Amino acid sequence: MYQEIDLDKIDIHAEPPIEEPARQYYFMAKCRKWVKGFEQKHGRLPKSCVVNMGCQMNARDSEKLTGILRKIGYCQSDSEEADFVIYNTCTVRENANNKVYGRLGYLNGMQKKNPDMLIGLCGCMMQEPSVVEKIKESYSFVNLIFGTHNLFQFAELLFCAMEKHSSAQKKKADMTIEIWEDTDQIVENLPNKRKYFFKSGVNIMFGCNNFCSYCIVPYVRGRERSRRPEEILREIEALAADGVVEVMLLGQNVNSYGKNLETPMTFAQLLREAENIDGIERIRFMTSHPKDLSDELIETMKQSKKICRHLHLPLQSGSSKILKKMNRNYTKEQYLALVEKLRNAIPDIAVTTDIIVGFPGETEEDFEETMDVVRKVQYDSAFTFIYSKRTGTPAASMEDQIPEELVKKRFDRLLKEVQQIASAKAGRYTGSVQKVLIEQVNEQDAHLVTGRMSNNSIVHLPGTKERIGTIADVRLTECRGFYYLGEVVG
Ligand code: SAH
Ligand code: SF4
Ligand code: F3S
Repeated sequence: MYQEIDLDKIDIHAEPPIEEPARQYYFMAKCRKWVKGFEQKHGRLPKSCVVNMGCQMNARDSEKLTGILRKIGYCQSDSEEADFVIYNTCTVRENANNKVYGRLGYLNGMQKKNPDMLIGLCGCMMQEPSVVEKIKESYSFVNLIFGTHNLFQFAELLFCAMEKHSSAQKKKADMTIEIWEDTDQIVENLPNKRKYFFKSGVNIMFGCNNFCSYCIVPYVRGRERSRRPEEILREIEALAADGVVEVMLLGQNVNSYGKNLETPMTFAQLLREAENIDGIERIRFMTSHPKDLSDELIETMKQSKKICRHLHLPLQSGSSKILKKMNRNYTKEQYLALVEKLRNAIPDIAVTTDIIVGFPGETEEDFEETMDVVRKVQYDSAFTFIYSKRTGTPAASMEDQIPEELVKKRFDRLLKEVQQIASAKAGRYTGSVQKVLIEQVNEQDAHLVTGRMSNNSIVHLPGTKERIGTIADVRLTECRGFYYLGEVVG
């Protein structure tokens, strides 16, 4: 694997290679030299901190950044009191953006105390030109900015920022900025450092073509493109060889995987291939758009021993009128029929969802339709969001934006309903024996470990950290709200 490339063998005085990923390894070697210089000057290695602010896709990107930082010699830190801090941002809702500006002020204070500290920003928010303008104007202490499409250039851009920092007193124009509008390039074989040794996200596609009218993701993540199945399967095989037992296949709409490949294939086909990989015990995926959920996928899930008994199926709204305005391409009735079909095929499947409250034009009746779907489907859990106006999306200029007060009231009613249903359903497996993948030592009680069932329910049980990463048969003795207590059997 490229990850094993020895940076010492790269001639950093030669011209940089043109092709990828060789070019990035060349810059990693250059960065490493800078890191050694830092070590000499300070008598210690520099610390880096990658802060992930977004979804699973961003979390996986953060692992790629961490992998490169590790390769060039940084030690990892969870604290922002570090020598390189990078925020991997999200912009799906407005409040995500505000949080970044607030925290940048704090980083500025840290940089004043540690003049060799470098600050970077990347992720979805950086794909918005107005954001970058604002940072150039008001946060000129930031050293490095890049976007979602050129994340693979991290080593090259970081080296540029390092050089500027070493060579001159930092001026406004010294910020290193490289942002692409879109790309069809997918660079494989760069390092990454997983957060968990036993589970991993795996990108299967990038971007989104759905243009739901409220959503900024297609503008910041670009057009949909699928990774080649050989690359995906090779990555999963390598993960399995490295001790990974659970993979989560990631895409904004995994159900449309493979449509634009040279040899098209369906998501269900990809799942069946992944199922054959020895060592992988569990397969999850995220996210599934209801409009593209095929019978083939349901059948594949049903037949599978490894695909988890959980489907995240974003509803967004229960009103067919609002769904149309959202450009979701399904009706309330179609959604309900889909859930029924799914549950008929796989009775023990957990269904979870995302719901937006207060989309423009949402009336009391529309909201009641949402409540109706929530009662009918009986979700195992639901993420509920207050509609956030994202400049540039079609919904932002729709009439009848709903007053905040009213939205808040609806939101509270929905949340209460969702929680009541989830807690009423939560205990239904009490007494049974379930397979639990143990993930971590319990945060409150060091004598307990915490894991997940196939359907994603959380279980606490007596155990020590040696059990992390193993799958145990666990009898669920008690349900406490949103989690179970259990004990290992056999
Ligand atoms: N591709 C995924 C969603 C990614 S965004 C999918 O289609 O399911 C995650 C969730 O954020 C969405 O499901 C939606 O519920 C919510 N969301 C997206 N844009 C939003 C906005 N403008 N306001 C409020 N919530 C939003
Ligand atoms: Fe956004 Fe819709 Fe694409 Fe999901 S499917 S990322 S909600 S546009
Ligand atoms: Fe946020 Fe980007 Fe994910 S906007 S939700 S981090 S794709």
